[in-house]
Amino acid sequence: MRTHTCNQISRADVGNKVTLIGWVKSKRDQGAGLIFIDLRDREGVTQVVFKPENSKENSDVAETLRSEDVVQVIGKVEVRPEIDGQSTFNKDIATGEVELIVSEVKVVNRSEVLPFPLDKEVNNEDLRLKYRYLDLRRPAMARNMKLRHRITKTTRDVLDESGFLEIETPILSKSTPEGARDFLVPSRMHPGNFYALPQAPQQYKQLLMCGGIEKYFQIARCFRDEDLRADRQPEFTQIDIEASFVNQDDIMGLTEKLLSRVFKESINADAPAKFERITYNDALNTYGSDKPDTRFGIHLNDLGDVFANSKFKVFSGALKAGGCIKAINAKGLCGASTGQIDKLTKAAIEAGARGLAYIQVRGPKPEDWRSPITKFLSPEELEAMQEKLNIEEGDLILFGAGDWDTVCDVLGRVRLMCAGYLNLLEGNTDLNFLWVTEFPLLHFDKEEGRWHAVHHPFTRPVPEDEAKLKAGEYAGLRAQAYDVVLNGYELGGGSIRIHEADLQDSMFTALGVSEEEKKSMFGHILEAFSFGAPPHGGLALGLDRVAMLVCGTDSIREVIAFPKNNRGTDLMSASPAEVDFKQLRELYVQSTFNKDDKKGLKKAGGDPATNREADKDDKKGLAKAKSKEMVGDYKKDN
Ligand code: AMO
Ligand code: AMP
Repeated sequence: MRTHTCNQISRADVGNKVTLIGWVKSKRDQGAGLIFIDLRDREGVTQVVFKPENSKENSDVAETLRSEDVVQVIGKVEVRPEIDGQSTFNKDIATGEVELIVSEVKVVNRSEVLPFPLDKEVNNEDLRLKYRYLDLRRPAMARNMKLRHRITKTTRDVLDESGFLEIETPILSKSTPEGARDFLVPSRMHPGNFYALPQAPQQYKQLLMCGGIEKYFQIARCFRDEDLRADRQPEFTQIDIEASFVNQDDIMGLTEKLLSRVFKESINADAPAKFERITYNDALNTYGSDKPDTRFGIHLNDLGDVFANSKFKVFSGALKAGGCIKAINAKGLCGASTGQIDKLTKAAIEAGARGLAYIQVRGPKPEDWRSPITKFLSPEELEAMQEKLNIEEGDLILFGAGDWDTVCDVLGRVRLMCAGYLNLLEGNTDLNFLWVTEFPLLHFDKEEGRWHAVHHPFTRPVPEDEAKLKAGEYAGLRAQAYDVVLNGYELGGGSIRIHEADLQDSMFTALGVSEEEKKSMFGHILEAFSFGAPPHGGLALGLDRVAMLVCGTDSIREVIAFPKNNRGTDLMSASPAEVDFKQLRELYVQSTFNKDDKKGLKKAGGDPATNREADKDDKKGLAKAKSKEMVGDYKKDN
């Protein structure tokens, strides 16, 4: 239907006859049959000119064209003329030096008036999502889709070159906990039983290692029923990798190679051959986050020694309770507005702080400072603090006092907000790749009084800590786990795995899995480990997050063709949706939400109560649910 795409013709084609087909991007009617159309396809735009002296009929057709009509045009390529000594070249488009003088035109399909313009920013995201197929016509979205394709293509190339086999694993599967709630699918053939959609192919890929596959990857769909954010979707895609006979450095090296190639081949950006590494502890102590944005400073400083004997109760109390005092110096933010300080305080409180002490450094001496707390601090403390934090006129100092986890988290968030207020990242094009290493293996949840796996239950402790895990000494165990971070986003994470049945059994014990549940939930993997399972490890990258950073957007929805909105709804197809009562009956699921039960019942010609197969052994079900939660609920993603 065409000889060229709409970004192709150039001076080299002048005089040639070409055929284009595409959408009417815009029309400029100069009157008397002289009409200019910008014709758009996926690749670009070409100016198409209808001249009445060539064909009045064609000009008549052109007059009827409206935005987004599909037209096919045949014509001759000409250089755009000079008018009154002025060039009419358009530098913004690839075909800007030429135009197509139409000799034949065919209207292929008409378009109704669009619900929103395609050539302007549209702030109403819900509207964009409802008409996603139109939204995808916009050049920015076409670019994102192309880049995403380039990422997956490069991934397949790099991993294929490195000997990895692409293997699919089941979508209808058994719950493999990754820390979120499962999406469940009722089984018609097994009344009362459910499949779980995979939160990740974690167990399957380990079983592939048991199957001697050695090097596996998959562009894997994952499903997690969790609260959504700008960088989270209920269904998302992982570049999932697993290999046998490897150590941490092997997986990290492969990931560095993969990400470097992806950034090079998609946006021609150079990533370092080796990424910086920081330990989990250092990341929290310095940046207050396990996915630190290292493109700017504003480090957390420990002030425990300065306030060791402070009379200020908030500080001395925190230390006495075994906690810490930390502060950041946001240089140049002394003039923060009351509104900004309120927002910082609100964020701190949301993160678990009791307040956010601060100092606005309005002059060189403490007398000039504006602060709710300096009156409680001694001259010696003020001096020592001034030196330690390098306090100068113009600074804003913000404090956290309390338990270590909370203080780091609070100041980590506050730090990011300060960078925003200071515009520290405006125009910044750095790619700060970073490995976060030496994660703890387990985390003790004080409220629930039990241990959770920080990564997941299949993660291996460092060799020195294996004996402690087996002996039930859980505090301070270190994992062979690693996350790859880019500019403050967790791109991916992985670990070296447990491959021995007895060590895996100890891990389940640590997580409070009962003997019965070990068999019912994890019997298959424990058994697989008993038949000569090879040592193995791997990692999963969030493909959508990689695409987000490649495309330079801060919303994951911009890089997914048909995303859910932040309420988990697909606005285009209006899902999730109610289903027919009959369908539920076939699945032995009783709807408690069906607003019109009577009608549904009548339609189905039956009684839902008699068709509902209740859990025969509710007690067992409850116990199962509880321990699933124990293993499942372990991870603090973001
Ligand atoms: P993890 O749970 O860390 O590890 O997930 C790996 C990566 O997947 C991405 N990700 C998400 N992206 C979009 N929306 C979500 N809801 C979402 N949740 C996670 C993140 C994250 O870093 N099986 C392990 C990996 C392994 O150990 O090999 C796993 O899934 O970028
Ligand atoms: P208070 O003595 O409770 O009025 O607190 C004095 C100042 O310290 C206020 O600005 C509080 O916001 C702040 N503050 C209170 N608790 C903490 C904390 N745990 N960490 C940091 N600042 C705090």
